[in-house]
Amino acid sequence: MDHFLYRNGTLHAEDVAIPAIAEAVGTPFYVYSAATLTRHWRLFDEALSPLPHLVCFAVKSNSNLAVLRLLGSLGAGMDVVSGGEYRRALAAGVPGDRIVFSGVGKTADEMRLALTHGIRQFNVESEPELLALSAVAASMGATAPITLRVNPDVDAKTHEKISTGKSENKFGIPIAKARAVYALAASLPGIEVVGVDVHIGSQLTDLAPFAEAYAKVADLTRILRADGHDIRRLDLGGGLGIPYTRSNEVPPLPSDYGAMVKRVVGDLGCEIVIEPGRLISGNAGLLVSSVIYLKQGEGRDFLILDAAMNDLVRPAMYGAHHDIVPVVEPEPGTETAPQDVVGPVCETGDTFAKARALPALAAGALVAFRSAGAYGAVMASEYNTRPLIPEVLVQGDQFAVIRARPTFDEILSRDTIPEWL
Ligand code: LLP
Repeated sequence: MDHFLYRNGTLHAEDVAIPAIAEAVGTPFYVYSAATLTRHWRLFDEALSPLPHLVCFAVKSNSNLAVLRLLGSLGAGMDVVSGGEYRRALAAGVPGDRIVFSGVGKTADEMRLALTHGIRQFNVESEPELLALSAVAASMGATAPITLRVNPDVDAKTHEKISTGKSENKFGIPIAKARAVYALAASLPGIEVVGVDVHIGSQLTDLAPFAEAYAKVADLTRILRADGHDIRRLDLGGGLGIPYTRSNEVPPLPSDYGAMVKRVVGDLGCEIVIEPGRLISGNAGLLVSSVIYLKQGEGRDFLILDAAMNDLVRPAMYGAHHDIVPVVEPEPGTETAPQDVVGPVCETGDTFAKARALPALAAGALVAFRSAGAYGAVMASEYNTRPLIPEVLVQGDQFAVIRARPTFDEILSRDTIPEWL
């Protein structure tokens, strides 16, 4: 469920009409609903109760400070994968002890940063990383709480570019090697083992791969405890998928996911950490764009928008589907025709949808891409020197620009021409 509905024939974000935002900030822009973000975070929080737990928002899915502040104020933790994301979480007011640090390539500088300002745990993904973290922590006289991310060799049955739990993927420590690496961790200075971590992929629409991976983690936990490790926390990663179309089958709900977690690992007495991103922010955001031209091509029509692949790269990168809807609600029975929806960037990959059934739209008409709140703005670039587009947050009847569109002067001033040229 989200809070982007037609009212009196116009698409709204909560109580704000989309055209009012377009008028104020210009198109294209992202708009997020505070009510939807709040609802989705709470669904996970309730789904894991009464187990001791922390729902850490995957900052990579939407890292705007206002979004992090909103979720942080509900009690959310944050899952970060870089020093930059860690700084964002802190800047949004989330304390270090609610931040978990994931990622295969943490640098010594990033480790030092997190140890200085506080960290709930590092999710360590390799022996070299473990040794580096031990050296950094010991040199600071600090202790780094860690889990080891294990690779359970489970097929998440999702898009190959976002599947992470198979042995051929770069992520985690092979589960068969985990015992030996835990023994190493226990022997190292500056390291405190607190748990086990797993994350098998993103946009999963079936609970079975999760259950299979978590069962392996439960078995491993029992073995590690027998080896003398105090395993008191399980980080089960993120990855629960969202419906990208109104018509296709509905992925499991957070409540179904929570019931499965309780069934598979609930008896271990561990604190449960999860790292959802997409399910919290995905359907909490729209990308709003204007039609520039309708162009009649050879046997097909092109709807040319002012948004492009640099603003929302998911269709070009993953062949991802986003529903595209007119902001002015079509009258019932309005005829549609297949249209290729494209942006102005100079490559054919800049195609949002092929032969999408849409009503006739005039130049200047507004359209909205649904499900664009996750992996939208964060993956944007300034390719073709197209400025990063603004982000807007709506709460009830108020809205605010939470990231402004840069001016061309700001963009150009980031480059420097050496004086010897
Ligand atoms: N935890 C870890 C360690 C992750 O690698 C990820 C996502 C998450 C949590 C959050 O997963 P989520 O709940 O959002 O599925 N750019 C791609 C998605 C990449 C996901 C990468 N890792 C896309 O646009 O579909």
